[in-house]
Amino acid sequence: MRTQVVIVGAGPAGLLLSHLLGREGIDSVLLERQTAEYVQSRIRAGILEAGTVRLLREAGLGDRLAVEGMEHRGIYLQWPENRHHVDFVDLVGRSVTVYGQTEVTKDLMAAREKAGRPAYYSASDVTLHDVTGSPYVTFVDSDGAARRIDADVVVGCDGFHGPSRAAIPAPQVWERTYPFAWLGVLADVAPSADELIYAWHPDGFALHSMRSPRVSRFYLQVAPDEDVARWSDDRIWTALAERLGVAGWTLRTGPITEKSVLPMRSFVATPMRYGNLYLAGDAAHIVPPTGAKGLNLAVADVALLATALTASLKHGQDELAAQYSETALRRVWRCTHFSWWMTSMLHRHGDDFDARLQLAQLHRTVTSEAAAKELADNYAGLPL
Ligand code: FAD
Ligand code: DHB
Repeated sequence: MRTQVVIVGAGPAGLLLSHLLGREGIDSVLLERQTAEYVQSRIRAGILEAGTVRLLREAGLGDRLAVEGMEHRGIYLQWPENRHHVDFVDLVGRSVTVYGQTEVTKDLMAAREKAGRPAYYSASDVTLHDVTGSPYVTFVDSDGAARRIDADVVVGCDGFHGPSRAAIPAPQVWERTYPFAWLGVLADVAPSADELIYAWHPDGFALHSMRSPRVSRFYLQVAPDEDVARWSDDRIWTALAERLGVAGWTLRTGPITEKSVLPMRSFVATPMRYGNLYLAGDAAHIVPPTGAKGLNLAVADVALLATALTASLKHGQDELAAQYSETALRRVWRCTHFSWWMTSMLHRHGDDFDARLQLAQLHRTVTSEAAAKELADNYAGLPL
């Protein structure tokens, strides 16, 4: 079988790339290790930058987003006895939208099915060949049949653990692990505030987020090797009430439907292009979740790559493709810095001196318009 672009990985990056290429008349085939149901139900990110929302809308993916997405003007930054609103709309004229990665994925899957674009789910042994010459990918399909697909280009959208990055010999890698993790919690209860609350607390960071008017999402800073079994529902609600509490505010509680521990790391691998192989999203870089950049960064890579591959495959113009890695990495490092900065400012680590520095930075961020603007500009998202 032959196609123009083989896309390894049908997470948000792979699905969106296949959608954008399809709109330009470029054929692609998606190869995904998991089942469609598994990919669709993975609970991950929840916040879309203004540019991500615009791109999804312009790509014809905005119908459910317009109805179910919850537009937020900003966030609350908090430390004991202090809760301050940072209003992105006032500061930089852009908002963010709460719309779960599960929903983005669902919309993309529906669009793929409607357009009849091919995808192999439950594909195993996906292997990339001859990526600097005439690339092809071999795999075993869900019926156990060995298959080969030849292509002009292979794109690795296969996340941090996928095989694509390993096809680049001697990539340069930068990495930072953090001495804490997040316990993520989903609960069937209405949000307790109109927008997200990022809280610094002596016991550790806490985040109040949401998925809908009836579903709340929370995160608690825990030890990196934390055993989720040690966190009963009662213990979770007590910790959230303590860390998120300010006078006159009540945390609503309800049935917890999911809890899991998420590791935190920063990771960047370069180059993002090697011959006819391109990497996009988590396959090339990971950010810690504070600041909600992971999914948005994957979307930004794909937007750039779809334009570059369209110019190359449809019009024979290769400049954008040649510049892809360098151009994408400028945003990758900006978001890597922002996510590291938010993570460092909000999580308890180090000693009391570090705590004083964090509180000084939080105070500065809510009292200086210049400092608040810097946060707002990065959080609401730089232009695509
Ligand atoms: P992925 O979503 O990882 O998709 C990669 C796909 O490739 C997967 O479907 C995978 O099954 C497939 N794949 C892997 N190996 C193979 C193979 N061998 N063959 C074929 N297919 C393969 N970001 C935030 O902003 N906020 C959050 O709260 C947040 N929470 C997260 C929680 C977790 C547990 C994780 C892992 C990430 C979280 N992120 C969060 C990050 C965000 O979800 C990612 O940045 C986003 O999913 C990136 O999309 P992607 O398509 O590049 O990668
Ligand atoms: C969510 C995740 C984040 O990492 C973040 O900074 C804000 C919200 C969320 O899952 O809702």
